[in-house]
Amino acid sequence: MPANRFAAISSEPNILTDIYREEINLSVWQCTLSQALNSEVADLLNTASELQLSIALTPEQTIDELRGASALFADKPALSAHLAMLVDMFCTLFELKRAGLRLTLLNKAMCPKFHVDHIPCRLVSTLGGVASQWLPHDKVDRSKLGLGSKGKKDHESGIYSCGSDIQQLNTGDVALLKGSGWLGNEQGALVHRSPAPAAGETRLLLTLDFID
Ligand SMILES: [Fe+2]
Repeated sequence: MPANRFAAISSEPNILTDIYREEINLSVWQCTLSQALNSEVADLLNTASELQLSIALTPEQTIDELRGASALFADKPALSAHLAMLVDMFCTLFELKRAGLRLTLLNKAMCPKFHVDHIPCRLVSTLGGVASQWLPHDKVDRSKLGLGSKGKKDHESGIYSCGSDIQQLNTGDVALLKGSGWLGNEQGALVHRSPAPAAGETRLLLTLDFID
């Protein structure tokens, strides 16, 4: 029986360091996005029909690298600065020289079923639209993950017993999701999924990953 796992959630950015605690599989900084940032994101959601950016960034040069990767950052100073801050935090926290950034516009659920990530840790932040859902460790039946669901949908598979067990992040939240690739966390990885946006709605999803 694996040890228990808990979430650490706070409006203080320092909470993110709690991800190093063995019993923590989710740490969330409840970040309030500035009005300037929200309006840049709204602009992006309204004008861009497709966006799937995947780049390696160094904390020292994030803003230049973003501008080099896509013209859309030219008139998005608040978004660029926010991404630069998160890349810097992520690289500092995990002692990385570079981070792999993905910025994706989604009009359907990308990972619609509850799952765990087979990586050490990922930073996830929904900058616009509905944010990710997750299950507390003591509310999830891990035998129903993957093939264990026997092809059934989450609400039929028994992976959770009650709809109110499903927790949801908020837009702007900066979350570190500990995966099964984190040493000692093989049975404690955070179970999560992307919610399906309502028809006609889009989400802007940011992820940061370790890269070599
Ligand atoms: Fe995932």
